[in-house]
Amino acid sequence: MSTATTPLARPQTSRFTAKHIFWIAMGLAGLSVLWSSEWPIITHPSDPYTRKIILDRFLLIPHALAGIAATFLGPFQFSARFRQRHLALHRMMGKVYVISILVAAPSALILGQRGFSFPMKFMGALQPVLWLACTVLAFITARNRQITVHRQWMIRSYAFTLNFIFARVLNFIPAYFAISEVGLAMTLSLLTASYFFVPDVVFNWRELTHRRA
Ligand code: HEM
Repeated sequence: MSTATTPLARPQTSRFTAKHIFWIAMGLAGLSVLWSSEWPIITHPSDPYTRKIILDRFLLIPHALAGIAATFLGPFQFSARFRQRHLALHRMMGKVYVISILVAAPSALILGQRGFSFPMKFMGALQPVLWLACTVLAFITARNRQITVHRQWMIRSYAFTLNFIFARVLNFIPAYFAISEVGLAMTLSLLTASYFFVPDVVFNWRELTHRRA
């Protein structure tokens, strides 16, 4: 057999990318949040926060279940390989993601007005509204087959989904755990700005690092 027709064996290149590092970091951060923020809710039933959570259970349970569903869909929806191999499933899971946010964001909006004072009430309304808006824009651009822009709005939407982790990931530090409502509102406003700024830097990375010939 001539060498010209022999298929070349593909070199075994490592497929470990920045995306994998990101998902591993998010998984570890999520576990740390479960341990530092959610476990104490279960183990301290007489704590005032746990009692508040129990009172709000009819909104919190759908909110948390829909939020968890959206969080777990992310790694599949952003995987290029998964999309290429299972496009119909990607579309179906995309619809489930949108429905999850349609449940999680309005319930977050109502929960965010209960028992808080002004700056937190404001952030408790702003974040769910932007979360829902980014998701609806991602859905519309997908329907219009504007895939580049669809991906950009999905990244912004998913950044809000990860807000649950980002806002609580420092809770293992006692001073952060005991942060004032104003401090927490400022933290949430910085996170919200970053959900637009950081993805934009990533989208423009080529233009930022390459000079036009
Ligand atoms: C921008 C996105 C989100 C906003 C604005 C938001 C907002 C809220 C609010 C206002 C509460 C009630 C806090 C209280 O009563 O003191 C809450 C609780 C909760 N949320 Fe979310 N949420 C978001 C995303 C998520 C996601 C994605 C999940 C699931 C992965 C989730 C799971 C929970 C859980 C388990 C609770 C109750 C326990 C706790 O406060 O830690 N949330 N959320």
